[in-house]
Amino acid sequence: MANDQVKFQAIIAHCKEYGFIFPSSEIYDGLSAVYDYGQNGSELKKNIRDYWWKTMTQLQDNIVGIDAAIFMHPTTWKASGHVDNFSDPMIDNKDSQKRYRVDHLIEGFADELEAAGKKEEATTLLATMDSLLAQNDFEGIKNLIEEKKIRCMISGTANWSDVRQFNLMFSTQLGSVSDEASEIYLRPETAQGIFVNFLNVQKTGRLKIPFGIAQTGKAFRNEIVARQFIFRMREFEQMEMQFFIRPGTQKEWYQYWKDVRMKWHLSLGIPAEKYRFHDHVKLAHYADAACDIEYEFPIGFKEVEGIHSRTDFDLKNHQEYSRKKLTYFDTELNQHYIPYVIETSIGLDRTVLMILSEAYQEEDLSTADKKDSRVVLKFPPKLAPIKLAILPLVKKDGLPDLAKKILADCRGHFRCFYEEKDTIGKRYRRMDAIGTPFSVTIDYQSLEDQTVTIRHRDSMQQERIPVSKIREIVEKEIL
Ligand code: GAP
Repeated sequence: MANDQVKFQAIIAHCKEYGFIFPSSEIYDGLSAVYDYGQNGSELKKNIRDYWWKTMTQLQDNIVGIDAAIFMHPTTWKASGHVDNFSDPMIDNKDSQKRYRVDHLIEGFADELEAAGKKEEATTLLATMDSLLAQNDFEGIKNLIEEKKIRCMISGTANWSDVRQFNLMFSTQLGSVSDEASEIYLRPETAQGIFVNFLNVQKTGRLKIPFGIAQTGKAFRNEIVARQFIFRMREFEQMEMQFFIRPGTQKEWYQYWKDVRMKWHLSLGIPAEKYRFHDHVKLAHYADAACDIEYEFPIGFKEVEGIHSRTDFDLKNHQEYSRKKLTYFDTELNQHYIPYVIETSIGLDRTVLMILSEAYQEEDLSTADKKDSRVVLKFPPKLAPIKLAILPLVKKDGLPDLAKKILADCRGHFRCFYEEKDTIGKRYRRMDAIGTPFSVTIDYQSLEDQTVTIRHRDSMQQERIPVSKIREIVEKEIL
């Protein structure tokens, strides 16, 4: 069984081989930290997005969804604090000219310490880093990097520049004539599209506090050290929800959303011990409390989702910069106020990576007289790209006709895959490799008694069922 970096590299290779994720514009040697989703990856990603959307809007009493534009008025980013504050402390290696985010550089070193059995040293190092970053003590951070003799992975030297701040937003020009064009940004988070629409949605939806606005969509960050496959990308997708509340109630709602979001993660069938909360010591410029939900990836525990108590920071600043009133009238209190906000923000691509990491298994199926193995993706059926494979045993004697009838009956309800080629064993293995939870095989008996063999991906158990039951069995598992 592969593990750690080996397992991680195996997942990356598997994603490419089976149409999940490809490097962007690969024929031109790719584009750093940008990836494309293939035929199976895009289905998986869509299923995760749909599941999040359903649980965060449809199944909630008081949360609605919107779809705001990626381009926003440039003043948005002044008001949100991103122009002035959305920067990370970076350090350059003078020999390789390679630039690193200091926290990533130190975390990478801590991972190495942990791998070498020095867990305590790693924990102390990270705690020291957190406390120096919280105080914006960049000299202290540089001293820590030098003291630990952390080296650049390209040059191998520890010849470092001073620590400086770099903004992570991408900018472009709006308008065709360059002197008239104005500089705008590709949004670094979807949240601001929600804040600027707060009153539009509240008024047109006649929403009463507490209520939420959800959104999914692309975000862009010029990440300096963008490694680790789809974990850290320059173009990625977020699923965010801003929950508007009365000022003073933020502590209760923060705890409430921590609980709800952890339950959502557990509903993916991932065991509790694979998750942990990480409370932020250094708070983002907008937050009065914040934590991450971390999942244990093959490369260690890492952030998948952030939960932030954003106070009235965003709405207050948008009110100031736009000079438009963004207050809410609370009829119960007979009072106008700017609502406080609890945000839940999860990366869709990171969730894809989490689901893949959890699902990927290499199984040894050898028996006394035969060596055998399989790679299987044990996705929760509701997230699997394809739900049902329809496999006629042979491509003659009327078997494909019955198989195509089953396909016609099922394809309007869930995604199916039809295949006639190769031995049934090879076809099962291919379905295991893309995580298809059910396969039905149509054989000669099927023509006589209208039954098929259904094979369950995880147990590999097979049973004979009537054709008329196929849809019901699959639908029960994917809801
Ligand atoms: N609106 C709040 C916000 O954007 P964040 O912690 O910066 O908070 C939220 O981002 C989530 O977005 C993260 O937990 C992560 O899952 C995802 N994310 C952030 N940067 C990312 C990147 N460069 N690549 C992939 N996912 C990223």
